[in-house]
Amino acid sequence: MQDKTIDELLKTEPTHHDVIVSGWVRSFRSNRFIALNDGSTIKTLQCVVDFENFEEEILKKITVGAAIEVSGILVESQGQGQTVEIQVSKLTILGEANPEDVKLTILSPKRHSLETLREQAHLRIRTNTFGAVMRTRSKLAFAVHEYFQKNGFNYMHAPIITGSDAEGAGEMFRVSALDAKNPPLDENGNVNYKEDFFEKETNLTVSGQLEAETYAMALGKVYTFGPTFRAENSNTSRHLAEFWMIEPEVAFNDLDANMDLAEDFIKYVVNYALENCADDLEFLENRLLEEEKNKPQDERSEMNLREKLRFILENNFKRVSYTEAIEILKRSKPNQKKKFKYIIDEWGADLQSEHERFLVEKHFKCPVILFDYPANIKSFYMRLNDDGKTVRAMDVLFPGIGEIVGGSQREERYDVLLQKMKTMNIDEKELYWYLDLRKFGTAVHSGFGLGFERLVQFTTGMGNIRDVIPYPRTPGNAEF
Ligand code: 4AD
Ligand code: MG
Repeated sequence: MQDKTIDELLKTEPTHHDVIVSGWVRSFRSNRFIALNDGSTIKTLQCVVDFENFEEEILKKITVGAAIEVSGILVESQGQGQTVEIQVSKLTILGEANPEDVKLTILSPKRHSLETLREQAHLRIRTNTFGAVMRTRSKLAFAVHEYFQKNGFNYMHAPIITGSDAEGAGEMFRVSALDAKNPPLDENGNVNYKEDFFEKETNLTVSGQLEAETYAMALGKVYTFGPTFRAENSNTSRHLAEFWMIEPEVAFNDLDANMDLAEDFIKYVVNYALENCADDLEFLENRLLEEEKNKPQDERSEMNLREKLRFILENNFKRVSYTEAIEILKRSKPNQKKKFKYIIDEWGADLQSEHERFLVEKHFKCPVILFDYPANIKSFYMRLNDDGKTVRAMDVLFPGIGEIVGGSQREERYDVLLQKMKTMNIDEKELYWYLDLRKFGTAVHSGFGLGFERLVQFTTGMGNIRDVIPYPRTPGNAEF
């Protein structure tokens, strides 16, 4: 039992009273100074032991990684870097950590690559980097709820198992209780899902949007915040097979209002992190500066981590139509010199992350909201513009990340939606309930999805999405 966490203790005045603290040993110097961490902060509490007063047996067990409980008085610190320390009067070893075993793990006090840390994901949370990232992740999650709750949104829990493919992209994980070795077959020799648990084909959700729309059309403003799944075989630093998505959906909002909401929301949560994760962000900023020292001068970033975050807050996101973006890209140097992998030569091309990053990082040098995309590269539910060839879609593009938000104004006209579903081969019988919304009191409405891990990546400056979620699921990897 702890009276106070180390975070709380470090913020108090020296009391000269007895306190009890538990944590894990980070280091033990000169048989005298223990650096103790309990996960409540990136900082350690210095615990000073008079080795003359402790048995050799106990001192030997104060090793890196061991769990201990100390009691003693909290006094002003003589040393640098901390205001208070504990003069230890009693010390209990709660759980030993054998130094020979520790040496074989990432707990050993030396530099380990992020790849090595990933292989020991159950231990990496004991490192400063992962402590900082995951505390920030937790704060950001809270900020998400705070923002929406303060602004009159209802939190809606969309189903995880669904019978529909929200994005119409078909990148889904099947959910089945059938015997994979011996599934029941229908008369054509195909697996007969009528005999499956749900008596139909089901999958893990790729997005809660369609269900959220049904709630927005009754509660007005809703948001989801839950896990989503994509079986896309993308081995990149920005894709996971299981990720958390935040999806607000608002009745009576058009695309402009949707853009305003996305910008206001992102600024709120980033500001929340700046205000509530100062120590962790400072650590992560220095970590990045260290990492950048290995890069040539011209590849280093112009801004440090917190400057980048403040930059987001202080600048308007640049709103640019897809058509304008194509013109810019066509004329761009990397396009003319054939430096892009995918050369942009005509209107209608799907934008790759190299193009998105060029627009954000090289051309506009600020977050960009692209809108009014060609209808045929976007999902069936997006509202068709009067030109008949573009839809009211929007993507928010961020420096270093690329697409962080994808959203749209939804097609609220029954006939237009039905026609679109037919041409895009979306099963209208399966989605009768979605069409129903357009029959009973239809209205303009809009929403978007923000990939939570991409937000955490941006806020913490971590380069790989696998390092901002506790146990990443990617192609070929579902350990732990
Ligand atoms: O652009 P997406 O596919 O949009 C939708 O799913 C819509 N139904 C959202 C809506 O309008 N309610 O995904 C939204 C966001 C992306 O911008 C990206 O940030 C993130 O989700 N995302 C991923 N993040 C990590 N790994 C993946 N495989 C991701 N796929 C999308
Ligand atoms: Mg998208």
